[in-house]
Parts: sequence; C-alpha cells; structure tokens
Amino acid sequence: MKDYSEYFNKPSLKNAKHRGKDHIQHINDAYEIPADMVGIGRGQKYHIKTYGCQANERDTETLAGILESLGYVSTDEIKDAQVVLLNTCAIRENAEEKVFGKIGYLKTVKKTNPNLIFGICGCMAQEEVVVNRILQKHPQVDMIFGTHNIHRLPVLLKQAMLEKEMVLEVWSKEGDVIENLPSQRAHKHKAWVNIMYGCDKFCTYCIVPYTRGKERSRLHNDILKEVQELKDQGYKDITLLGQNVNSYGKDFKDGYNFASLLSDVAQIGVERIRFTTSHPWDFSDDMIEVIAQNENIMPAIHLPVQSGNNEVLKRMGRRYTREQYIELFDKIKKAIPDCTVTTDIIVGFPQETDEQYQDTLSLYDYCEYDLAYTFIYSPREGTPAAKMEDDIETSVKEQRLYKLNELVNEKAYKQNLKFLDQVVDVLVEGTSKKDDSMLTGYTQHQKLINFKGNKDHIGQIVKVKVTEVKTWALKGEEIE
Ligand code: SAH
Ligand code: SF4
Ligand code: F3S
Repeated sequence: MKDYSEYFNKPSLKNAKHRGKDHIQHINDAYEIPADMVGIGRGQKYHIKTYGCQANERDTETLAGILESLGYVSTDEIKDAQVVLLNTCAIRENAEEKVFGKIGYLKTVKKTNPNLIFGICGCMAQEEVVVNRILQKHPQVDMIFGTHNIHRLPVLLKQAMLEKEMVLEVWSKEGDVIENLPSQRAHKHKAWVNIMYGCDKFCTYCIVPYTRGKERSRLHNDILKEVQELKDQGYKDITLLGQNVNSYGKDFKDGYNFASLLSDVAQIGVERIRFTTSHPWDFSDDMIEVIAQNENIMPAIHLPVQSGNNEVLKRMGRRYTREQYIELFDKIKKAIPDCTVTTDIIVGFPQETDEQYQDTLSLYDYCEYDLAYTFIYSPREGTPAAKMEDDIETSVKEQRLYKLNELVNEKAYKQNLKFLDQVVDVLVEGTSKKDDSMLTGYTQHQKLINFKGNKDHIGQIVKVKVTEVKTWALKGEEIE
C-alpha cells in the first residue's frame, strides 16, 4: 500500500491544482474492513442524500455498497438511520447552500439521536472554505471525507465511533484509480460505469478539476469486465461516465482511446449504451463513426457549449470557438441524422455584454437543442474566473436566464413534436409516480415517456406509439 502521510488531511486548493507527470496508480487491494468493523452495522440503518452530477450518484452507489458490506441496510427516513451521509456538490453556490440547510436540520435530528454518525463527503469536502465553515460552526458533524477517500469509509467510521473529535480526512491529491469497491446500484435496469475520473481542462469558472483531481482513465479490461457483468445481471442501459469521456485513454499513450472503448463496449451487446459528458474539444471523427455504425450506441449526445460568443468562450478557457463548435455539431447531425443533442449553458459570465449574450441565443436558435441545462454563473473560490471583475446586475443575469429558458422550452417542444405518431422503443422503468395506471421509461433518444402499457413489461424494451407531446415528456400507448 502507498504511504499517504504526505497528504494533508485538510483540503488544500493549492495541492489540488497540482498536476504531476507521475504515472497514475491502479490499485486493486485498497479496500479493507478492519476486523472489529465486520458486521458492525447489523440491525442498523443508513441514509445517503446525494447532490450534484452522475459522478456523485455513482459514488453514492459505492458508499452504499460499503455500508451494506458492513451490515447496514438503507432507509429513506433520516430519523430511522444510525449513519447519515451527505454526498455533496460544489458546482454552484446554491448547491452548497442547500447542503448547509440540511446540516442545520441534522443538528436537530442529532439532539434526539445522539448516537447518530453524521458525515459529509463529496466535492464540498474538498473545499477549504467549506471545511473551515463546518469546523467552526457545525460541530455536530462527526466526519468529513473527500472524493479520494471513499474507500476508507470503514476505517473513518470506526474512528468516528471511537473518537469525540470530528474525523477529517480529505486528500487533496491528483488521485488514483481504485478498483474492486463494493457497490449497491440505484437502479435495476440501467447502470452507470465510470470510465475515468477527474478533469484536466480547468475551465476558468469550474471547481471540478480541484475537487476531483487529475484526469485518469480506468484500464479498459476493468471497464469491459464491469459492463459484461452488468449485462449478465440483466442490465439493458449503460452510461459510460467521465467529466470528459472523449479524453479517455490519453494517459495510457498506447493508442487505445474513447472510440476504441466505445466500439469494444458495443460488441458486448448491451441493448443501450450511452456516455456523458463529451467536451467538444476532443470529439473525434472516429467517435462519430463508431456511434453511427453501432445500433446499440444511442443517438443522444450531450455536448455542452456554455456560450455562443468567442470572447466569452476564450475567457472561460473552453478551447474551441463558436465556428468550431458548429462545425462539430453539423458533422454529428450529418453522420447520425436522427441524433438528439443537448447542452449546458452559463449566462452572466463576468463582463458578458448583452451582445455576447445574444450570440448564445443565436447559436441556440441554430442548433435547436433537444434540451439544455442552463445556469447563472456562480463564482467559485480558487478558480481564475472568481478573480475577474463581475459588473453585471443580478436582475440582468436573471432576465438572461429567463429569456434563454423560454427558447429552451420552445425548441424542446419543437424537437419532441418530431416523435408524434411515431413508434419508439422504450425501456420500461416502472409505474409513473403521479399516476400508477401509467408506465414510465426512456426512449433511445433519452426522451421521458409516460404511457399506457403492461406492468409485466417493467425492465423490458417495448414498442410505444407516441400519442401526445409536451415540452418535458412524451405520452403514448404500448403496442403489441
Ligand atoms: N464536465 C462537464 C461539465 C460538468 S459541470 C463539461 O465540461 O461539459 C456541469 C455544468 O455546470 C457545466 O457544463 C456548466 O454549464 C455548469 N457550471 C460549472 N461551473 C459553473 C459555475 N461556476 N457557475 C455556473 N455554472 C457552472
Ligand atoms: Fe469543469 Fe470544464 Fe472540466 Fe467540465 S471540462 S468539469 S466544465 S473544468
Ligand atoms: Fe458537483 Fe462534483 Fe459533480 S462539484 S457536478 S458533484 S463533480
């Protein structure tokens, strides 16, 4: 085992920024349960609240797997739990404030249940400001551990049970690839598979490269083995995960890249393969060809643009121009004509002028995205953009977001209309939450659809005729 004593147990943005040339370690035996922790959770419950992106959702599956391997079972009710974890997100200020709200609430829960172990993990744990605030103001937190420390949960839990002091273990390092962790998957028919961790793009507004470490790929044999196992267990929809999946394999230098991986994953024969997120910068022609040629790679691509203006893109550090983005977009639509494309957009980046914002609207109008996740820029301490002068009024930013969202809705509806009266393949996930006489699932193009159908078909892929179209979802009827 590697000696970790060189790393501070408190987060450090300065250390987190470091990108060395050392080879990433792929470690197979890092996970261990101390002898006196075996079965410690028997008869007890845990609750994990997850914030943020799919990377965190996937990490929660690992945390849940670890807790279950100690004997705990899951509960939806915080008040019934002996262990509560908040798996946090640092991407925007409002994400963080939600977590602080929850921490306040947990203070009251701990009063009635003093034996409760209450932990904070995820991306916020990697931030100095957050950890200092918790240390000063929220002593009811029993443990804080970072994104590189997940496999250490049994050891940290033991310390938290024995010690009165808050247990703090956050390694601000570049990161390893840790294999063979237990996992309790959130869904029965669709699954996430990490193919890489971290991010080296350092977009000027973004905290992720600091909270998740260096861009590092899992070995392709480990990924293919996991996908094969999921297929054998009956999974039908697999999403390959990374902050920039297109950069997959760049750290190996043996020529095996994301196009090679996609192709190998497709051969395993899972019905549906997806991937997220694609950075426009590394999107290769080989990738487009592999997606176009394999029917089980879904024609639905998430391609975040962030802004339609070259000056803003440059100051965001996005590494492409509006023209290059449009060229890529056109190439994808030409090679895969029915491909749906979704995006992410930030409005109100420091000093964004009204004209520059209009460029984002005109790009949106050109691309006619199927959907977009839209955000008001939020300064993140330690990132270069946080030091840029930001002179746009909040009301202006809100107005920009509002107008953009109107366009998003208009285009979403327009794109959904293409499916009216069509027959689509749907992976049936279950009954609709609002109306249990209806089934719900996703189409190949990642459209949510509610439909009348046979409940025995949950977990299967069925044919559904689309009878009604809305902005956020389709409606339909299963056909025999
Ligand atoms: N790796 C992905 C994005 C992950 S974060 C990519 O590069 O495409 C998801 C989205 O959050 C980003 O695409 C961006 O639109 C938004 N985001 C990130 N940092 C932000 C910030 N400081 N303020 C507002 N939105 C932000
Ligand atoms: Fe953040 Fe940019 Fe990396 Fe995406 S590519 S995670 S936006 S730094
Ligand atoms: Fe949030 Fe961390 Fe994901 S900051 S968006 S949970 S990588």
